[in-house]
Amino acid sequence: MAGKVVLVTGATGGIGKATAIGLATMGARVGITGRDLIRAEQAAADIRTASGNPAVDVFAADMSSQAEVRRLAGAVLDAYPRLDALVNNVGGFWAHRHTTADGMEHTFALNYLAPFLLTNLLLERLTASAPSRVVTVSSGAQSTGRINFDDLQGVRHYSGQRAYSQSKLANIMFTNELARRVQGTGVTANSAHPGVVRTKFGSEDQAGFFVIIGPLVRPFLKTPARGADTPIYLVSAPDVEAFSGQFFANRKPKTANKAAGDLDVTARLWRVSIDLVGLTGSPG
Ligand SMILES: NC(=O)c1ccc[n+]([C@@H]2O[C@H](COP(=O)([O-])OP(=O)(O)OC[C@H]3O[C@@H](n4cnc5c(N)ncnc54)[C@H](OP(=O)(O)O)[C@@H]3O)[C@@H](O)[C@H]2O)c1
Repeated sequence: MAGKVVLVTGATGGIGKATAIGLATMGARVGITGRDLIRAEQAAADIRTASGNPAVDVFAADMSSQAEVRRLAGAVLDAYPRLDALVNNVGGFWAHRHTTADGMEHTFALNYLAPFLLTNLLLERLTASAPSRVVTVSSGAQSTGRINFDDLQGVRHYSGQRAYSQSKLANIMFTNELARRVQGTGVTANSAHPGVVRTKFGSEDQAGFFVIIGPLVRPFLKTPARGADTPIYLVSAPDVEAFSGQFFANRKPKTANKAAGDLDVTARLWRVSIDLVGLTGSPG
């Protein structure tokens, strides 16, 4: 990875930080994102120490806000004349419905619309830097997901689990559609399930079951470093160069939710997303 430039979103902790450490250890220049500049600077210092690589850059942005994602993309384009890989890792779980500055449901906005918008804004740079890779961190929860176009943002009925599963299925549909669109350009797009990992995941707004079960199961979960193994592999391994539009877990391609193969739903989701992030004028 020496000489390569990689952006990892949501890398102040958890799987993202472990991914950044792994890639920096391999010699890449790594840009990390987080909401808070001081927390992100601290994480960057930790990543430099753990990897022995000083080339770690910080980009602070609240990615639940589309204006902030646009500002972030601008800062990345200014900082990096080339971009070899983008790891769309940012994401979370909220037991109750929250809305973002744009009035969007938080899970849908952060887990799905933010990587959709950021990737589209960085795609020209990724294409110019080809061969390049887009890796999006999905989840095993994608298997129970359904894209509910009638209530995409849980206005009528919100369930944290349903919103999360939908967003993670949407990550896979986005990846698959992106892979089709960039075919032949040298850009690949794959998604990953990191496993069940001991992080701050869901800690902002937990409820019921998780509050009781969470502390009991925590010791048995994967470490962030183990959770980062498949994302790091997808960014760096020569043997996945030819793979695109695949869902991986434990470094192996897996069959995703059957719904992810529905091309009509995938195309509709892409069109709806283009409207929701205001990317009209780009190829719909
Ligand atoms: N943990 C698991 O078992 C598991 C399983 C399957 C999939 N995943 C997926 O793995 C990814 C990483 O999760 P994790 O477990 O590592 O979670 P985590 O420990 O909560 O880390 C989340 C990261 O995202 C950042 N973040 C959160 N909200 C943000 C916002 N509005 N704007 C910008 N950055 C924000 C956080 O930074 P700041 O708080 O510093 O802003 C942090 O760096 C997620 O996509 C998750 O869905 C996790």
